[in-house]
Amino acid sequence: MDPVPPTDPEVVVVRYTGGREVVFFSSSVFLPASDYKDSLNPILVASKEKISIIIIIIIIIIIIMDGRKDVIEAWYMDDSDEDQRLPHHREPKEFVSLDQLAELGVLSWRLEADDVDNDKELKKIRKDRGYSYMDLIEVCPEKLPNYEDKIKSFFEEHLHTDEEIRYCLGGSGYFDVRDHSDRWIRVAVKKGGMIVLPAGIYHRFTLDTNNYIKAMRLFVGEPVWTPYNRPHDHLPARKEYVEAFVNKEAGCHAVEAR
Ligand SMILES: [Fe+2]
Repeated sequence: MDPVPPTDPEVVVVRYTGGREVVFFSSSVFLPASDYKDSLNPILVASKEKISIIIIIIIIIIIIMDGRKDVIEAWYMDDSDEDQRLPHHREPKEFVSLDQLAELGVLSWRLEADDVDNDKELKKIRKDRGYSYMDLIEVCPEKLPNYEDKIKSFFEEHLHTDEEIRYCLGGSGYFDVRDHSDRWIRVAVKKGGMIVLPAGIYHRFTLDTNNYIKAMRLFVGEPVWTPYNRPHDHLPARKEYVEAFVNKEAGCHAVEAR
């Protein structure tokens, strides 16, 4: 009994790369061709409309199952001068979705931090994005030389002329980024969360009250960690960022307002 060919249009395969892979398919793939023709399986007699509904439900399930949310969360910050390591939520809390972060150029993944050496998704990201350089950093008073100075410089608002890529392998920390209106968004990253801050975005980093993060740093070619403290709006990297993400967003709102 031959299985239904894999080109069967009723086989639904959905791949999702946000940290998990989910594959759905109709049970027809397990049926012999003869049974398939007889349409004994209710899925096979489903109309195209029904299949569309099934696909929509699957997409909704995938969105709900977005594994990134377990390890990366973002919200607008309050204006308090309290300890920078506190969450600094607004009242009421104002969360920011990962899609909103993507609109700022901030990319995110959830990866398998306990199996870094064999993680095919990490390898693929590195290959696709050209991240040839990799090292590990631990930020805590005991492990980081010149801890006090470093933690201060990390929290100075700055930009880089290249992407800042951080993959949290242990502990946690906050990456703060400016939105289109110059408001601070706090991005909390835990073990398994990987983020890319685009070149030219103003940002800063701080530990949270756990006081520890272990992170993989990735880079295209030889790493350049130079921070350019705000203001450095004249740098080409900043101009390109503004053009690609800030002005584009302003243009969208202008069109909407017409
Ligand atoms: Fe930075």
